[in-house]
Amino acid sequence: MSNVELTYHENIVPYDRNELLNRLNHALRKPRYEHVVRVEQMAIKLAKLNDVDVEKASIGGLVHDYAKQRPAQDFIDAIKKYHLDKTLLDYGNAIWHGYVGWIFVKKELGIQDIDVLNAVKHHTIGAKHMTKLEQIVYMADYIEMGRQFPNVDKARKVTFDNLQNGVAYQTKHTLDYLIQNNKQVFPKMIDTYNAWVPKSNIK
Ligand SMILES: [Fe+2]
Ligand SMILES: [Fe+2]
Repeated sequence: MSNVELTYHENIVPYDRNELLNRLNHALRKPRYEHVVRVEQMAIKLAKLNDVDVEKASIGGLVHDYAKQRPAQDFIDAIKKYHLDKTLLDYGNAIWHGYVGWIFVKKELGIQDIDVLNAVKHHTIGAKHMTKLEQIVYMADYIEMGRQFPNVDKARKVTFDNLQNGVAYQTKHTLDYLIQNNKQVFPKMIDTYNAWVPKSNIK
């Protein structure tokens, strides 16, 4: 699983990849840890296809779910401490682990790179403007090789053919899923939808 041979040179994390893996291993239970390693592998593949920095893709893929298994109170405290939008309190871990979780990635993992932090922040709900790295982490999380949902192969093909179309595809289908299942929609997801889906030609 973690057989990616990659030596970090860019000082985005102030330690090596093995130490980052160690930290994730402590923060996450086994299935989630294995997921982030698969996301890393997919992110590296997408980075190579799209001319994006492989080290950033590796780190973004690995850390995107760093905060996924923290207690709710950690997020509630952070929302208050850092004076984040109070309406965040109406949501839960599904939104918080990215949209608030990037703060823990910054403080605890020592990552300052804004592109990596935004990739964590936006990996679940997307954003109106996303850099290629953000798009890659958003998509790698959706199509990593452990994912099994109807049309996952189509989602992979669309994404390998064109990263932006992949973003549109995921955004459309996730929103559709939330609505079909009477789930909460975080308002910023609508911004993501409006920015990416109407201009695309995906089905
Ligand atoms: Fe996530
Ligand atoms: Fe994830």
